[in-house]
Amino acid sequence: MLPSGERVRAGNFGACARICGFMSENRRIEILPSILASDFARLAEQVSIVEGAGADALHVDVMDGHFVPNISLGIPVVASLRKATKLPLDVHLMIENPEEFIEDFVKAGASRVLVHQESTVHLDRALSLVKEMGAEPGAVINPATPVAMLEDVLDKVDTVLVMSVNPGFGGQAFIPNSYAKIRQLSEWRKRYNRTFRIEVDGGVDRENIAQLAQAGANSFVAGTSIFHTADPAAATRNLKRLAADAVSLET
Ligand code: DX5
Ligand code: ZN
Repeated sequence: MLPSGERVRAGNFGACARICGFMSENRRIEILPSILASDFARLAEQVSIVEGAGADALHVDVMDGHFVPNISLGIPVVASLRKATKLPLDVHLMIENPEEFIEDFVKAGASRVLVHQESTVHLDRALSLVKEMGAEPGAVINPATPVAMLEDVLDKVDTVLVMSVNPGFGGQAFIPNSYAKIRQLSEWRKRYNRTFRIEVDGGVDRENIAQLAQAGANSFVAGTSIFHTADPAAATRNLKRLAADAVSLET
């Protein structure tokens, strides 16, 4: 139990969170459609549909066939997307030697660059490089990697991305150990007064997004549950409403 003075301050803080909007920009509920699930032959059109529906950023999956067993897209696609949309580009690097490509991706238009902890022995250096290049650094962990591996870089990231599938493919089933990881990150974010986004990627849909938001996630990547539906605009709006409602019930 907090001493009474602390309780008053905590109460005021809660009231401000409700009245002043949600504490920090990085803790806002965000929906990030993952273009991996889109129809690449109609990419600009699909992007404009989700942008019009209130998507907050586009999630761009870069795979090299080595770090993950699949190949997707690279720097020229990021450059084309940069011209086709005003949305921030959230570039998820699933590649070996990420440091070698960070500069190129930022120059091509990446707004945020997400680097896997497992992809480099110099995560701290890679995150610094993203920042020096003028983009927002993010750190990513696979389902088998504990959140503790990121504890010492939490002061230099704008995003922590929890993979809720093994990276490499869209359309996989959500792995439930992600909830505990998100709760742990959310606790650290509060305890150390940090403002990083807690992002979750893989198998996010209308069935689990409310529970993920309640666990502390605020940035939601969604591929299949947006682009493999009859109405990607409605799916985007619906996911956002479900996440926002789940959080507003709590405050
Ligand atoms: C998987 C990618 C994800 C993928 C998510 O390696 O990082 O971003 O697009 O797709 P869904 O939402 O279909 O699981
Ligand atoms: Zn991704």
